[in-house]
Amino acid sequence: MRAQIARLSGVPADQVLATAGASEANLLVGLALLERGDRVVVERPGYEPLWKTFQLLGAEISFLPRPFESGFQPDWEAVEALGDHPPRLLVLTNLHNPGGTRLGVDDLARLAEVAEQGDFPILMDEIFREAALDEPPPSALTVSDRFIITSSVTKVYGLGGLRLGWCMAVLDLLAALHQAKDFTSVAPSLLSDAVGVRVLTDRKAVRRRNQRLMATNRRLVAEWIQAESAVEWVLPDANVSFPRYRGDVDRLASVAFEEYGVLVAPGRMFGAPDHFRLCYGTDTDTVTAGLEGLSQAIREA
Ligand SMILES: Cc1ncc(COP(=O)(O)O)c(C=O)c1O
Repeated sequence: MRAQIARLSGVPADQVLATAGASEANLLVGLALLERGDRVVVERPGYEPLWKTFQLLGAEISFLPRPFESGFQPDWEAVEALGDHPPRLLVLTNLHNPGGTRLGVDDLARLAEVAEQGDFPILMDEIFREAALDEPPPSALTVSDRFIITSSVTKVYGLGGLRLGWCMAVLDLLAALHQAKDFTSVAPSLLSDAVGVRVLTDRKAVRRRNQRLMATNRRLVAEWIQAESAVEWVLPDANVSFPRYRGDVDRLASVAFEEYGVLVAPGRMFGAPDHFRLCYGTDTDTVTAGLEGLSQAIREA
């Protein structure tokens, strides 16, 4: 399993630790690195457990904006300021959840440079990295030792039920993560490990199939956005997106779900209440029906 993960990430196998999903991987980073009162800077909008987990461990959370207006790129001025006022940990995702946009190799190098200057590590959650429609960005650990990577088979491989993920880091950091794991799950499930190896061995076929599906579905969603004047978006690289809506998002989400069985996540859950998260990694007929339902909900909300 470690060899397969190492191959898909381009890092040595001894820098990989298997975990019970990316959720455990992220928790291990907190358990290994943080002490009560440590300052952790987390991207916003962002995936809620990426800051709540560290808050529960006693960290002081502050946020790094990734504004819609700049395609969910990090606010680079705020990033540069971290060099002089370093946090204990900086937390980002690539591809961005919820925006679906990427950090390229130059962006990763720029982040690493600031981390070097401030002498702090960066947790890069790469659960959506391989969901990229074009060539995925490299795993950040191949760019700099400052990165700790977390990921899993949940999103790209659709296998959340296996509870199989991983952390990757340079060896001294990995040893600390490994030690923390003795207090959480000890070892991965052997059954999940066996199925995971089988799937990752065929990952190119899985990726080809997913890319075809995502390209078709993204085109449909782009046409839908074009036709819906109350909705605008940043074209995502993947099957996750974060449109902005002129209207009451919570009401829209509840009408869409209750009347039409369409589930979108209200943006307030990601720290951006004018948005909703729209995922479309499922079969195309379901996406078409979902968009129709969402249009009806917009008329009624
Ligand atoms: C950014 C991010 N990290 C981690 C997770 C948790 O994934 P897992 O099922 O591997 O625990 C998710 C799931 O939604 C996610 O979006």
